[in-house]
Amino acid sequence: ARSEGPITIADYRRSARRALPAMVWAYVDGGAETGLTMADNCAAFDRWTLRSRVLTGNSGTKLDTTVAGTALSLPVFLSPTGMTGLAHWQGERAAARAAEAAGTRAVISTASSYTVEEVAEATADDHFFQLYPWTSRTTGEPLSGKFIDRARTAGYTALFVTVDVPTAGNRIGERKHGMGIPPTLTPGRALSAAVRPRWAYGFLRHQRISARMLVDERGTKAAVASARTQQNLLRPDLVWDDFGRIRDLWPGPVYIKGILDAEDACRAVDLGADGVLVSNHGGRQLDGAPAALDALPAVVDRVGSRVPVFLDGGVRRGTDVVKALALGATAVGIGRPYVYGLAARGQAGVEHVLEIFRQEIVRTLTLMGVDDVADLNRSHVQRAAARPV
Ligand code: FNR
Repeated sequence: ARSEGPITIADYRRSARRALPAMVWAYVDGGAETGLTMADNCAAFDRWTLRSRVLTGNSGTKLDTTVAGTALSLPVFLSPTGMTGLAHWQGERAAARAAEAAGTRAVISTASSYTVEEVAEATADDHFFQLYPWTSRTTGEPLSGKFIDRARTAGYTALFVTVDVPTAGNRIGERKHGMGIPPTLTPGRALSAAVRPRWAYGFLRHQRISARMLVDERGTKAAVASARTQQNLLRPDLVWDDFGRIRDLWPGPVYIKGILDAEDACRAVDLGADGVLVSNHGGRQLDGAPAALDALPAVVDRVGSRVPVFLDGGVRRGTDVVKALALGATAVGIGRPYVYGLAARGQAGVEHVLEIFRQEIVRTLTLMGVDDVADLNRSHVQRAAARPV
């Protein structure tokens, strides 16, 4: 059969799988432990149905929303992904450029393959910065202040503080495939890269693999020569006061990423968070955590009248975006979907992924008889009847 090229995010997932060595695929697509939470993130959307009204004359013309004072023409932004240069050597630079071409923004990870300065230089608009509250392995000093200063100077407008990584999640697939810095190579693993010359060429020529902020912190590429580097920087001892301190270091809007509990959401807002990103890290941390969508309504009920609430995890279709917005999210983040696009086709792939979302959202709203994403509310969704398995 003649191939029509990717039409859905699921198509991009298949293309990315073909494009990437098994080890990198395990990193991008894997979840923690059994993958229960990762799978449930997607399945949770299927547990809701959409209400449609006919003959309204509405056709989904308004998709804009505001995140961190920035007007987005699409209620979908790029959630932070570390070491994005593993998927494609242009990494976060290509992803951020694609985001702005689509009228949205990227959140650039502390663990990104390009530094905040390099991404800023490659883009026209200001993006958002994601902070891991890490501590230096050499001096024991918190690195947050240093990272924050750099992101501010480089023009980033909002800070997302990720709080769901007190320790690394147990990613079985990554461990089985020897994923680490440096990777544990076997003949089979090397072959899996060698049979993908396009990937291998970009990777070897540009070597954009590492968490660049860390490289620079220790002044040398050798800084990332240990598979344990990142683990050694993680802080299981952080408490709410630490979040408050970080909040006070940033002059602009601060969002807390990795919240699943309404009580935690409330605490963060009391400490000055300007919004909450409901997330279980794409099911890469605590396996057994609830699906992000299932955690959303209680958080919205608790803090939604005070601050915007965002969601990421399992968003793969326009209908998913509409369901999350109907349940109270102001905008949603995508992680793997844009990394699939990047792996398959670089910047053009990410642009197409965002275009697929745009078209799917417009079509969904038109079929529902809704004109503006801002009009979506809980009356537009209903629990699906239990289905036989
Ligand atoms: C992530 N995520 C993540 N989050 C974060 O705050 N900092 C990071 O460096 C990373 N790194 C990262 C790498 C990869 C390969 C993935 C897939 C994810 C989590 C990410 O921001 C987001 O929460 C999830 O990806 C959302 O789930 P979906 O869209 O991938 O299902």
